[in-house]
Amino acid sequence: MRTVFWDYETNELKMIDQRLLPGVFEVVSYHDHRSVAKAITDMVVRGAPAIGAAAGFGMALAALESRADNIPALLSDLRSAARTLKSARPTAVNLAWALSRVMDSVAGFDGSVSNLRAAVLEQAQRIADDDVIVNRRIAGHGATLINDGDTVIHHCNTGALATVDWGTALGVIRMAHEQGKRVHVLVDETRPRLQGARLTAWELEQYGIPYEIISDNMAGHFLKTGQAQKCFVGSDRTAANGDVANKVGTYMLALAAYDNGVPFYPVVPTSTIDLSLAHGGLIPIEERDPGEVLGLQFNGEQVAPKNARARNIAFDVTPARLVTAIVTENGIVYPPFETNLKQVVKN
Ligand code: MRU
Repeated sequence: MRTVFWDYETNELKMIDQRLLPGVFEVVSYHDHRSVAKAITDMVVRGAPAIGAAAGFGMALAALESRADNIPALLSDLRSAARTLKSARPTAVNLAWALSRVMDSVAGFDGSVSNLRAAVLEQAQRIADDDVIVNRRIAGHGATLINDGDTVIHHCNTGALATVDWGTALGVIRMAHEQGKRVHVLVDETRPRLQGARLTAWELEQYGIPYEIISDNMAGHFLKTGQAQKCFVGSDRTAANGDVANKVGTYMLALAAYDNGVPFYPVVPTSTIDLSLAHGGLIPIEERDPGEVLGLQFNGEQVAPKNARARNIAFDVTPARLVTAIVTENGIVYPPFETNLKQVVKN
């Protein structure tokens, strides 16, 4: 089943509510683009490629919602919807990428209003379908990096839930497992939203891949003591020089991997590579509600004092010098990234 999909019988967008997993599996329906934007902000749907696909279908909903009876008016409503959807989360470039892909596909549209509505949905569906194809290609390349018997550290959730289906970094691990390689995963729990402990562990259970959850601050120990041979992570935006923005904590993992000579591999669809940004310092970093940090409970009580304050930075940037290679659907890219990334991104 796909994480994000269009129901052609009811003309609705449907998404797995990732806030409820692993306890409750619920598929939620969306009828308007503003609710889709809110679902992205609230992380009903999360993970860069899944956000992009949701935004594409959000545009299809916007096209259906619009009362416009001529093409310029409908295009104007679509531009407004794209602005709303784009503002839902700032870091993952797939969001803006998917919205541009939809708008570009209908620029200068010549036809009826109903054909334009259909064209928007068709493009959104193509974005979703392409994501699955791209992820499988990525997995084919990435699995060559995994040896039989490897233990790998994985951060956040980059599996089927973070994409339309299959996944990126977790998809690489899944492919290696399906090829018959014995692979063991140390799952960073990924504070504060616990995408690792909740979502990655849930997916690994279903794939039958052996794993153990570790708290994020244990990763250094496993790397230093030779108990992990590789790190695989996703990315929300990769700059032209190979700096990689990903879930907060990725940078510390990369530092520890580098210090111990353990290969560190971001796994990224080329839709996540933003060649317009020269380096990672230009990537907008989301800061979320401190309540996500302060809400942690122990023995049924909030851990922090009642009036505690907190910061909640959602992503960090790993400098390219700590990255061994970047796995894309068009091959594995090694340094120098400034020149080599350009060659795998097709415009
Ligand atoms: O805040 P999230 O859960 O949306 O963050 C997700 C990540 O950081 C993933 O690693 C990234 O989107 C790549 S997923 C294929």
